[in-house]
Amino acid sequence: MAILIDGKETAKAVREKIHSEVEAFAAETGKRPGLAVVIVGEDPASQVYVRNKHKACAEVGMYSEVHELPADTDEETLLSLIARLNADEKINGILVQLPLPKHLDEKKVILAIDPKKDVDAFHPVNVGKIMIGDFTFAPCTPAGVMELLHHYGIDVCGKHCVIIGRSNIVGKPQAMLMLKENATVTVCHSRTVGLADIVRGADIVVAAVGRPKFVTAEMVKDGAVVVDVGINRTAEGKLCGDVDFDAVEPKASYITPVPGGVGPMTITMLLKNTLAAAREQLKK
Ligand code: GUN
Repeated sequence: MAILIDGKETAKAVREKIHSEVEAFAAETGKRPGLAVVIVGEDPASQVYVRNKHKACAEVGMYSEVHELPADTDEETLLSLIARLNADEKINGILVQLPLPKHLDEKKVILAIDPKKDVDAFHPVNVGKIMIGDFTFAPCTPAGVMELLHHYGIDVCGKHCVIIGRSNIVGKPQAMLMLKENATVTVCHSRTVGLADIVRGADIVVAAVGRPKFVTAEMVKDGAVVVDVGINRTAEGKLCGDVDFDAVEPKASYITPVPGGVGPMTITMLLKNTLAAAREQLKK
């Protein structure tokens, strides 16, 4: 029987700590950390995420504003909004909700965000900083995974961590965060030959493939820590992760559920990054 890694409980504890740090920051500086969230178009899932980010800011005493732009917004309008937010002293963090409508160039939009306000850590400057292990903020999902491991006293030092997935948002930065803490890291992906054998060698598995129940019991060694970053929907509309939870759980030492595992941590890390950005911007 594995110990369940409770993302909801952990997120609550971390948010309480952030809240008290925000109050201390406000008492000291007379300012509240501020986040601007930009959403283009009416994708319902994105609208829910953005609403949750706005609400989460209020709950920890942060200022936030949401900029909702129509789906046919042109590049110039979006870039000029970003320029305005870059120059706005109330705003310490800027997040442009992805994906953007097809006619907008995501790379160009991310490049327009001031790296000091890029709380997603998607700007190449911040990606480079993560690569050299000298950064103010890390992308929210891999940072949330690390926070969960720390919260449960799971030390990655010297362990073999196998990450399944190589995306710029999760897999690649996850590898860097684990390396920084002296893990031995293997990154697998859809073209990996002998994937099951590699995963079986893992002390810690991070599944970020985006395929329901991809990680089976046969792929997991006894006593492994299993972290599931996946959010998929079954044909019946139920949420499910990348791990076959019921089959894997009896073999694992620790495991994250979906929902209620990594998910609640991502917005929490966004709040942490926004506070860190506010502190950094105060320094100059
Ligand atoms: N869409 C889904 N996840 C994310 C995220 O972490 N950041 C942004 N900006 N958009 C997203």
